[in-house]
Amino acid sequence: MTLTPRPPRRVTVLDLAAARAEGRPLTMVTAYDWPTGRLADESGVDCVLVGDSVAMVVAGRSSTIPATLEQMVYHGEIVSRAATRAMVVVDLPFPFQHLGVRTAVEACARILKETGCQAVKLEGTAGQADVVAGIVAAGIPVMAHVGLRPQAVHQLGGYRMQRDEDQLMTDARAAAAAGAFAVVLECIPRAAAAAITAALPVPTIGIGAGPDCSGQVLVMHDLVGLSPDRVPRFVRAYADVRGTIGSALARWRADVERRDFPGSDETLG
Ligand code: KIV
Repeated sequence: MTLTPRPPRRVTVLDLAAARAEGRPLTMVTAYDWPTGRLADESGVDCVLVGDSVAMVVAGRSSTIPATLEQMVYHGEIVSRAATRAMVVVDLPFPFQHLGVRTAVEACARILKETGCQAVKLEGTAGQADVVAGIVAAGIPVMAHVGLRPQAVHQLGGYRMQRDEDQLMTDARAAAAAGAFAVVLECIPRAAAAAITAALPVPTIGIGAGPDCSGQVLVMHDLVGLSPDRVPRFVRAYADVRGTIGSALARWRADVERRDFPGSDETLG
């Protein structure tokens, strides 16, 4: 396994731009707590995303909509301390990007100040371009998120591939023109992702958008096989952590029940 060496310092927006210019694929993975933040950072990924998927992955909710600003700050602060090298990106939860520039800037400033992260991510269409521009004008780096916007799941009629290529291009271009330093493309056709990636002056990071994006992002619990529910078809599981933990718990329980644990080595005094 050959991995690109990383600088021994915090990844910045300039590093992401340089990677795009050099054609080096970017990697971003979600983390929500201390152990997963540490693991993500140690893996050498470029960015660690504290996604509002925390509501689904950690709290078992059926959408990301219930994630609150307080929860994003709580998880974002933990991961920002855990990840000392990767760029930490924290999601702006619903509905702050729809409440006007001032409210969105206030929420993003709170995320930046109270978590210690380096950037915020927000879902939106071209309709939120003024909000992206306002946050960027405040000196807060913005990663935009277009295509399947999970916060709009009810309006989109479910977690479905978004196929309106003109609309996708319009949304992605508007985000980049407003100053977003990268754009997440979720669940869109490969051809649309390739066209957007070629058209934008900033990196694209795909999830369910095919191999032609500047980089890829996945939810860590899907990637390591820890999610209890069915994962999307675009996920590749690189481990069976759910199976590993399940079998460890079963073995421990069996050992206790036959009085094999604790043994003399695990007994103090
Ligand atoms: O919240 C999240 O985890 C995300 C990724 C799936 C891109 O937005």
